[in-house]
Amino acid sequence: MGWRIIIIYLSAILLCVSAHKHPNKPNSPYEAMQQYKFPAGLLPEGVTSYTLNESSGEFSAHLNGSCSFTLENSYELQYKPVIKGLISQGWLKKLSGVSVKVVLLWLDVVEVKRNGASLEFSVGFKSADFPVENFEECPRCGCGFDCGSGNGGVLENW
Ligand SMILES: *[C@@H]1O[C@H](CO)[C@@H](O)[C@H](O)[C@H]1NC(C)=O
Ligand SMILES: *[C@@H]1O[C@H](CO)[C@@H](O)[C@H](O)[C@H]1NC(C)=O
Repeated sequence: MGWRIIIIYLSAILLCVSAHKHPNKPNSPYEAMQQYKFPAGLLPEGVTSYTLNESSGEFSAHLNGSCSFTLENSYELQYKPVIKGLISQGWLKKLSGVSVKVVLLWLDVVEVKRNGASLEFSVGFKSADFPVENFEECPRCGCGFDCGSGNGGVLENW
């Protein structure tokens, strides 16, 4: 079940960078995610641009390069330079650009759903639920949630 941890990590990443860069801009990735009932932290730091078509739900987030980090010294999570998906209220589907390494396999995270206080992550044939509150912190490329003082511990219970 290690892949679950990675997925959680991923989620936490999604919204934080943009929020810091454009705290007052309504169309920042961070605010956009919140508009769709997702927590901050679904995008990693380093997002350079973001697009959202509000009528179709198509979104994309661009990173400065690939981003990966290890979770709890065991699991790897990877973001490609372009992350795409279809977003609607509490439902992020057809996700591409995010994968998690489980044992020896890289699995694409294809869907994230919000169910009340939980987020359900799916790699297609398998899914797992995690508390939304675990995604309020923003992981960073390279070190994830444990980059230094005050930022660690988010995933300690996993
Ligand atoms: C947004 O999505 C709608 C519906 O699919 C489409 O008609 C429109 O061209 C899209 N806009 C952009 C800027 O891609
Ligand atoms: C993107 O990468 C370039 C080249 O490494 C660097 O100069 C630039 O500061 C980076 N931009 C961001 C937002 O990290």
